[in-house]
Amino acid sequence: MTGRKVVVLTGAGISAESGVPTFRDSDGLWEGHRAEDVATPEAFEHQPSVVQGFYDARRAALAHVEPNPAHLALARLEEALGDDLLVVTQNVDDLHERAGSTRVVHMHGELLSALCVGCRRRSRWAGDLSDHPPCPRCGSAELRPDIVWFGEVPYAMDRIIEALHRCDLFVSIGTSGAVYPAAGFVQSAVTAGAHTLELNLLPSEGSHLFEESRLGPAGVLVPAWVSEWLDGAR
Ligand code: OAD
Ligand code: ZN
Repeated sequence: MTGRKVVVLTGAGISAESGVPTFRDSDGLWEGHRAEDVATPEAFEHQPSVVQGFYDARRAALAHVEPNPAHLALARLEEALGDDLLVVTQNVDDLHERAGSTRVVHMHGELLSALCVGCRRRSRWAGDLSDHPPCPRCGSAELRPDIVWFGEVPYAMDRIIEALHRCDLFVSIGTSGAVYPAAGFVQSAVTAGAHTLELNLLPSEGSHLFEESRLGPAGVLVPAWVSEWLDGAR
């Protein structure tokens, strides 16, 4: 098993049992908001206070959630695999890190980070942005949520694509497969000859692309799969 390279893609479903709302489920975030009203550069241009308020509330809500057994299991997997594991998350929460994972790429940005429109630099940020705080790097009062909005380019694509090309196993957890480029990662992994496994509550749009799909809550499926993998099964 050592030397086998694993890429895990996570989506909102892995944090659902921690109490972080998903996007497209019936009680999801996009049910209460039109995505284009809060998650596009145009929305930020036209109604910055609505957008800042939406992300300020989500950032503040992180204080009331904890990692669940699925996040903890992935941290356990990293302890065993080290550099052979890369977690690519679409999530903007910090629950993977709080569970102990360090090899995590936030391709859609992070709530606990602010991006300066003036100097384009990113700063760790735990407070609100609605009140126009100055950028710690350049002083300009132009901080925005460090979130990759619709129409923007996700972070770290080179690193992700390289890992996908080299992986032996690709596991997708708690994502609807509705948003590209993440939805296309399974195809890159298949092309690389990797085994592909989906762990999701319900069948996703891309379920048919995976060799194996297991349905159920991440808090149950992920610890079970990690134990299985660590015991030498696949
Ligand atoms: P979605 O809300 O689209 O999908 C969540 C998936 O998780 C669904 O397939 C659910 O069936 C599944 N799910 C729900 N609860 C679960 C549980 N307890 N265990 C396992 N699976 C569960 O969220 P994402 O696929 O992450 O982008 O959405 C992708 C991107 O769309 C997000 O990163 C976000 C959004 O627009 C940005 O904000 C930039
Ligand atoms: Zn700045």
